[in-house]
Amino acid sequence: MRKSPLLQQVFDYRALPESDRFKQFALKMEAHNLPPIVINIFKYYYSLLLSGSQGKMAEADITPISPDDLKDYLELDAYEAAGRKALPKVAIIKLNGGLGTSMGLETAKSLLAIKAETCFLDVIIEQVERLRERYDIPVPLTLMNSFHTHSDSMLAIEGFDNGRTRVPLAFIQHMYPKIMRDTFLPARWPKNPELEWNPPGHGDLYTAMVTSKTLKRLEESGFEYAFISNSDNLGAVMDLKILGYMASEDLPFLMEVAQRTPADKKGGHLCKVKESGRLALREVAQCPDEELAEFQNIEKYAFFNTNSIWINLKVLEKVFAYHGMMPLDLIANHKTLDPRDPDSPPVIQVETAMGSAISAFHTAAAVRVPRTRFAPVKTSNDLLNVMSDNFILSTDYEIVPNPERNRSPVLVDLDPTFYKKVDDFQDRFPEGVPSLLNCTTFTVRGDVRFKGGVACRGNVLVENRTGHQVVVGPEDL
Ligand code: UTP
Repeated sequence: MRKSPLLQQVFDYRALPESDRFKQFALKMEAHNLPPIVINIFKYYYSLLLSGSQGKMAEADITPISPDDLKDYLELDAYEAAGRKALPKVAIIKLNGGLGTSMGLETAKSLLAIKAETCFLDVIIEQVERLRERYDIPVPLTLMNSFHTHSDSMLAIEGFDNGRTRVPLAFIQHMYPKIMRDTFLPARWPKNPELEWNPPGHGDLYTAMVTSKTLKRLEESGFEYAFISNSDNLGAVMDLKILGYMASEDLPFLMEVAQRTPADKKGGHLCKVKESGRLALREVAQCPDEELAEFQNIEKYAFFNTNSIWINLKVLEKVFAYHGMMPLDLIANHKTLDPRDPDSPPVIQVETAMGSAISAFHTAAAVRVPRTRFAPVKTSNDLLNVMSDNFILSTDYEIVPNPERNRSPVLVDLDPTFYKKVDDFQDRFPEGVPSLLNCTTFTVRGDVRFKGGVACRGNVLVENRTGHQVVVGPEDL
């Protein structure tokens, strides 16, 4: 047998005994037409959960990243020509299965308008069209949707196609059954059976590429690499230097990482596992409680995963041929069965994250990219900033900082009670968002509706303590 491309030995889930408890999950998943490979992968994570192994990574087991472990994006100029040569072999995949629940959305976040009538998906499509035109290469674009985002997203990209590449425009991620925390049995909620299932996280990408035959189709059409990123990351655009580095060094997997700032200290970080010498991501849930302070030391653990990755498709195919899965860290997400009802029964959701695949490969690489390649919209504060004149659409249809801004990035702090949910946010800026080009900090406390044409300068605090909504117009600031 040829050598496996993976570093770590995957636990052989096929040898697991079929417990009666698991049989109930298997039956439920079969009834939902989930393919056997997905049932087996779920079984692997379920048994990890039962054995109580939550994969803690202690300080003693890891080392911080040293300059030798990373390539700096600024050192990649020499790879641009190789990237130009590899461009016909790369496909773009956007993760588009999430709903942006923290912003109160019930449709794909990528459908939110960010500039005039233009939403994230419009920007992505235009970028791909321009890339195709500029290099005369039919670079394909594929969305990974979920059942919740698929139909709306496909309607939004109607008219766009992958032409003669025959690469599908989208594939749909799977669903996992929620697990009752007290019995470890499948969750049952007859009054709304949809709530018995959870999205498996973006780590499902690898499996969904296989079961949807997207991987096969890409390979048959001669594609060798995929560039995969969040659909809400406006900085995740095609980059010939990174592609060239990936192709020239024959890397199986490359992750774009960025410097952690105080704002990122609670999020995961990149590190190196002492025993194996491989790169790994450590999320807060994987850190022993007594080491949480060091976890947040952004000088020591200085890099985070931007969730933009590049993968060699042949290697991915081999991983599935040998192991039947991509080994990823288990994320056991503790929630209530109905997320809106705190009195509904407690459940565990099995989830995985795409980036944890970095530990699976001997020669995975990490490239430290400038922060401009990581511009996600996670909160209504981010949304307001991007919608404002601090950002413009470039001729390549990239959302870039407005060159007219001559001060540090604005700090937006909207009152979460009135602006956290997108609907509430939109109700309070009905005629467009204020100009923030000359604004240093913009803080709103209380319920304030802004008329069109408001321009903020310097440090602006708008505070309403009246208990009812007030309206602010251009004449007030
Ligand atoms: P996040 O996990 O950061 O979530 O997704 P989110 O969608 O921004 O927002 P919340 O946490 O629900 O508020 C990162 C990217 O991965 C995709 C999302 O669409 C986003 O582009 N994603 C997430 C999936 O495609 N599938 C998933 O199951 C989860």
